[in-house]
Amino acid sequence: MSFRIQPAPVARPNRCQLFGPGSRPAIFEKMAASVADVINLDLEDSVAPSDKDSARANVIQAIGDIDWGGKTLSIRINGLDTPYWYRDVVDLLEQSGDRLDQIMIPKVGCAADLYAVDALVTAVERAKGRKRPIAFEVIIESAAGISHVEEIAAATPRLQAMSLGAADFAASMGMSTTGIGGTQENYYMAHNGAKYWSDPWHWAQTAIVAACRTHGVLPVDGPFGDFSDDDGFRAQALRSATLGMVGKWAIHPKQVALANEIFTPSDAAVAEAREILAAMEAAKAKGEGATVYKGRLVDIASIKQAEVIVKQSEMIAG
Ligand code: COA
Ligand code: MG
Repeated sequence: MSFRIQPAPVARPNRCQLFGPGSRPAIFEKMAASVADVINLDLEDSVAPSDKDSARANVIQAIGDIDWGGKTLSIRINGLDTPYWYRDVVDLLEQSGDRLDQIMIPKVGCAADLYAVDALVTAVERAKGRKRPIAFEVIIESAAGISHVEEIAAATPRLQAMSLGAADFAASMGMSTTGIGGTQENYYMAHNGAKYWSDPWHWAQTAIVAACRTHGVLPVDGPFGDFSDDDGFRAQALRSATLGMVGKWAIHPKQVALANEIFTPSDAAVAEAREILAAMEAAKAKGEGATVYKGRLVDIASIKQAEVIVKQSEMIAG
């Protein structure tokens, strides 16, 4: 480890973030009744320009009126290139109670974007005497966002989570696809007449995980658009979990259970992690730094790997 210790992210479950348009208040109660860890009410791209004001009013009303239980409640504001975002921030912070946990800032391109929102949020919080500081989450969904991902992750102590937004990211990068996440038909290697599909999101995901882990932010996989394709969702989410992401968005309620299933360490994985820790305890007692578990090497690094799984499982159970 470097002399600079890697900070831990906030200890709260973030396996699934369920989205719903702020212009569709009829689903808010259903969202609150879901088993998603995080609720994202949207004021941005799922809301038509003509509905921006009414969606904002719906959301402000719902923050106080609906019982959101122990969920993290987050509102996605409009992007900093729009005329809506300052009113989103000011009205949300002036008119909603302390129940609002977080605001999500889309299409962040550089640390200065967060500086601007932080300055506005801080001023309103002080003016209103708000007790609990609002947390931020951001979406990396542009060429600028991924290019500046590390400075964004470091931009403000308010930042708790960072998601990859596949659709806007693909558009900004000029990628030749209309798919929102998942396997892309034309992204393959060919060998001896067979096609082997690869993962076009891998690099961006890994860059996000590295920036997040460096600065103690939760890395999250964004939307999977084809909600009729459970296998495709599972494959994408399993890859994200393997890379170090802690959760995934649901853009339809049927994706919530899938995300929870994949981002909750299985009983078998937790049992194996505990066995590895026990094997390493036994090795340590004998003065050894490495030992053999089920025919494979485990050493001091294995303790840290196993602890990731055990800690995640304990945090979710708690
Ligand atoms: N959260 C909670 N419940 C939802 C929901 C959501 N996001 N979307 C739909 N439902 C409810 C419906 O009201 C319906 O309930 P019912 O059985 O009581 O009638 C049930 O789930 C089935 O809905 P379905 O008919 O399959 O979907 P739909 O056509 O009503 O809506 C979408 C489909 C994709 C338009 C809708 O899920 C949606 O708006 N998703 C979020 C989009 C979004 O926020 N995008 C921004 C981030 S990418
Ligand atoms: Mg987007």
